[in-house]
Amino acid sequence: MIEAHELTKVFDGFEAVKKVSLNIPPGSVLAVLGPNGAGKTTTVRMLTSILEPTSGWATIAGHSVLTEPEMVRAKVGVLTEQHGLYERMKAIEYLDFFGRIYRMNAADRKSRSLQLMERFDLTFALDKRLGDYSKGMKQKLALVRAMLHNPPVLLLDEPTSAMDPLSAKLVRDAIIELQRDEQRTFLITTHNLTEAQSLANKIAIIRSGRIIAQGTMDELARQFVGEPMMELRVAGVMNGLAKDIGDLVTVTETGRDWLRFQVAEPQTTNPALLRRIAGLGVDVVTLSPITRSLEDIYLQVVKEDEGGTNDDQR
Ligand SMILES: Nc1ncnc2c1ncn2[C@@H]1O[C@H](COP(=O)(O)OP(=O)(O)O)[C@@H](O)[C@H]1O
Ligand SMILES: [Mg+2]
Repeated sequence: MIEAHELTKVFDGFEAVKKVSLNIPPGSVLAVLGPNGAGKTTTVRMLTSILEPTSGWATIAGHSVLTEPEMVRAKVGVLTEQHGLYERMKAIEYLDFFGRIYRMNAADRKSRSLQLMERFDLTFALDKRLGDYSKGMKQKLALVRAMLHNPPVLLLDEPTSAMDPLSAKLVRDAIIELQRDEQRTFLITTHNLTEAQSLANKIAIIRSGRIIAQGTMDELARQFVGEPMMELRVAGVMNGLAKDIGDLVTVTETGRDWLRFQVAEPQTTNPALLRRIAGLGVDVVTLSPITRSLEDIYLQVVKEDEGGTNDDQR
């Protein structure tokens, strides 16, 4: 649905985006993560024909961002950084104005506006001027605007930044519904790793204009933080247990009555491990997987990108 091939943007000799390639299938969510200045917004702007790439190409719903900007805009809803425009307009006028740009008829402009304002809890502010909107309200209104013409693809640049927790949840729930129930396709940028983890099918990490990692959570976890990890807790104290199981699994950390290990094939190794431990007369209390957070992955990706790969990989 969204395809980018080696998108590159050079501003006055400065390469802000370097050969970014993406492939986002219909009905999926890609979360793009990266520090400030990494090139996220520039990428979003190129994907929506707002900004011309220096080289590379991209298509949205099969339409070229280079040669068919009108078609692309019809298919895409965009939320980007807010500029203090339209402060004197009332929300309902603002939406009507954009509805006209999208060539929607009067009845549709009105019904879609009311329906979406309701969805984002903004009905009470339909007649307020944008100058009187809070940052979070403006952000939600920008999302309403992005969705006004019912686009199958949404590019949302930091959709929940500046939002209070309740509004952020409203927006996340909307994204989940729009993907799951209506099969819409999303590219979102965010600094919120928990948010990315809960919304995205795939994650791309961008740094200094380059994508330094891309994949599903599982793929990234395997690639950057290694094999699945488990934690074993025993009753009492484990004397030398780590040594006794060292040929089956890779023990990475031990405590008084617990240890953590990496295991490539838990299905076959764990039963053998438990038999071995029982045979040693040690009682197991729990054996549980350790879930790797996106934060662990992110930190490791950045560390490896910085070249810090030669120290302890754990
Ligand atoms: N119009 C522009 N002219 C010159 N430099 C720009 C322009 N837009 C962005 N940049 C630079 O490109 C880099 C990437 O910016 P941006 O895409 O906004 O990053 P992000 O959204 O990841 O924070 C930054 O160094 C920024 O200063
Ligand atoms: Mg940005």
